[in-house]
Amino acid sequence: MGKRTIVAMPGDGIGKVVLQETIRVLNAAGFDADYVEGDIGWEFWCSEGNPLPERTIDLLEKHKIGLFGAITSKPKDEAFEELKEELKAKGLVYSSPIVGLRQHFKLDICMRPCRSYQGNPLNFIRRGKNGTIEEPHVDAVIFRQNTEGLYGGVEWSNPGDQIYDALMTHPKFKKNFGTVAKEELSISTRIFTKKYTERILRSAFEYAQKYNYPSVTVCEKPNVIRETSGMMYKMALELQKKDYTNIQVWNTNIDAQMMWLTKNPENYGVIVAGNMFGDIISDGFAGLIGGLGFACSAQMGESGVAVFEPTHGSAPKYADYDVSIVNPIAMIESACMMLDYLDEQDIAKRIRASIAKVVSEGRVRTYDMMKMSGRADVVDNGAASTTEMADEIIANL
Ligand code: NAI
Ligand code: MG
Repeated sequence: MGKRTIVAMPGDGIGKVVLQETIRVLNAAGFDADYVEGDIGWEFWCSEGNPLPERTIDLLEKHKIGLFGAITSKPKDEAFEELKEELKAKGLVYSSPIVGLRQHFKLDICMRPCRSYQGNPLNFIRRGKNGTIEEPHVDAVIFRQNTEGLYGGVEWSNPGDQIYDALMTHPKFKKNFGTVAKEELSISTRIFTKKYTERILRSAFEYAQKYNYPSVTVCEKPNVIRETSGMMYKMALELQKKDYTNIQVWNTNIDAQMMWLTKNPENYGVIVAGNMFGDIISDGFAGLIGGLGFACSAQMGESGVAVFEPTHGSAPKYADYDVSIVNPIAMIESACMMLDYLDEQDIAKRIRASIAKVVSEGRVRTYDMMKMSGRADVVDNGAASTTEMADEIIANL
């Protein structure tokens, strides 16, 4: 394979530092690539009126692989206030560049692995028999449909006549909401298509097969949300019967699953869900393995473009510290997902083994791992800086 070019999109706040440190780790591990910088985020909204400039889209179109830090988003009114004076009359409206990326490149598959590292002081523990303390090993991989469902954006407040009349043809709408004034109605839809439901299910099955997970858990609510959740579950059973007979299909409800999270998280492996429930369940599992400093993700789609990013945001309050204190592991793990995607598993393995060693030795820990509250003086009090953590990972490669 020839030398690759990766579109590095630092974004805002701590996105810049975690991405920079991650590239240092990738280089040290021997990943042979060039990096071109892709502009994205608040800075470009303020100066150009577009947080996702066309030139960044072009770069991704060309090179296909993006490593993304994090961006800052603010409510509409604040966004308008911070816009450059000469752009204010142009009627621009801020919208999230991450959602923009997802929509533009149809990044419909979101994958979020949540694996606990041995020795991580942030790992979930529970009480066992006779008052013992148990630390279950969590190894869950959540496949979240990334473009449809409740986040599909098809919604109304005070809906127009056509919409209202169409809804009134549904007996349940008529019975339960038919006497409510239109201006008192807000409606968000939850649309699933067969095509994208099958794609997320197949991704989950394929992954389970490739990495020897015995089951795929569909985490929805088919007993109540009969059409969408019901369709996903039914399609999972059909696919299993047809193409994945060696893998079991489990069915859990999102509410019960959140409870089981703290009872028996070790029993779950590959989990698949729609957009909203996938978001919820992946945050739930991330909490068991160390939270935002450890939660990584990949977003992929049919266009062949894939973007790898930590789940955390730009953490603006830490962005201006002279010495950066945040944990770079979530971003480095996201880069490891990129390496897997590019068939560079050996390098990914080495980086993960090094992280595992650093975490289990416990000599170098960022403030979150030391359970400190995030302040500029944490490094003086024994926490590792972002750079020191990356240095230690490099030293152990
Ligand atoms: P956040 O994820 O930026 O930070 C929340 C808190 O989590 C931080 O204050 C910090 O205590 C901790 N934290 C986050 N990353 C960490 C790391 N790597 N190591 C250690 N601790 C870490 O979420 P918040 O404060 O809700 O949002 C800040 C900005 O980020 C907002 O403008 C929001 O819109 C944006 N955001 C962007 C996302 C993205 O780019 N994918 C995702 C979530 C929020
Ligand atoms: Mg989330």
